[in-house]
Amino acid sequence: MEEALGRLLPAAGVVPARLHAAMRYATLEGGKRARPLLCFAAGEACDAPAERLEIAASAVEMIHAYSLAHDDLPCMDDDVLRRGKPTVHVEFDEATALLAGDALQSLAFQILGEHRLADDPAAQLAMVSSLASAAGSRGMAGGQQIDLEATGRSLSAIELESMHVRKTGALIRAAVSLGAACGRAPTQAERSGLDRYAKCLGLAFQVVDDVLDAESSTATLGKTAGKDSKQGKATYVTALDAARAREFADELRRDAIAAVAPFGERGARLRQMADFVVLRKF
Ligand code: IPE
Ligand code: IPE
Ligand code: MG
Ligand code: MG
Ligand code: MG
Repeated sequence: MEEALGRLLPAAGVVPARLHAAMRYATLEGGKRARPLLCFAAGEACDAPAERLEIAASAVEMIHAYSLAHDDLPCMDDDVLRRGKPTVHVEFDEATALLAGDALQSLAFQILGEHRLADDPAAQLAMVSSLASAAGSRGMAGGQQIDLEATGRSLSAIELESMHVRKTGALIRAAVSLGAACGRAPTQAERSGLDRYAKCLGLAFQVVDDVLDAESSTATLGKTAGKDSKQGKATYVTALDAARAREFADELRRDAIAAVAPFGERGARLRQMADFVVLRKF
């Protein structure tokens, strides 16, 4: 992924160099690459070629990197540390962080348009539109809006789940569905299993993020720990408590693993990723 992203991003010296340097800074050298790994795991289950998966996974990771650069801005979570480094606006400046996020989002769609990812052009168009809807106002950006509006308030269980499903779940689901779409058409049982898997893990990812914010350290996370409670964020830790939030994430992990049974051996990576998402320490 590091190599693919490095190649797909504009070189740091290309004008406007400061913007390109910020895009590379936001994307390269860091992060767990959970979404690319999920994209590859789903692709492997559907016999997708690696050259296609590399592009799909890069597009999803670019959207993710953009969402982080914007999430950290002073007008949002106002964070100074990300992936063990100063956040993009601290290393560069706010306007550059904003533009780097914008340009990463555009680049994600540009690469989806420039490379052949599915045999059927209509299937490829559906991939583009599913990533757009995952990133947009009814997906990640919409979830971020709900997150900001919920700050200092408590949400009902349904509202909290709906916020998490959008702000984080949508992009995780897109990672899985784009990976699968790079390969052979899944059977009906595989398709619905994969969808349930992605739904469960998308929600679990943010539940675990909430728990880690409360229970882990800044050194381990590479981002400031304990910020959610300081900022009055609505999280699964405030709604349940850390222990029950962990239990909930583990239920989702088991559900996700059960859901990909139709893939048999070819679902091994998907099962490993369910463990990774829920049992991770950072
Ligand atoms: C952090 O995502 C933000 C959320 C959506 C929860 P990750 O935990 O995947 O961050 P990186 O990519 O590993 O830095
Ligand atoms: C971020 O959620 C979700 C995004 C869409 C970026 P958080 O605000 O909890 O993510 P972190 O904890 O800063 O990584
Ligand atoms: Mg946030
Ligand atoms: Mg944040
Ligand atoms: Mg968080």
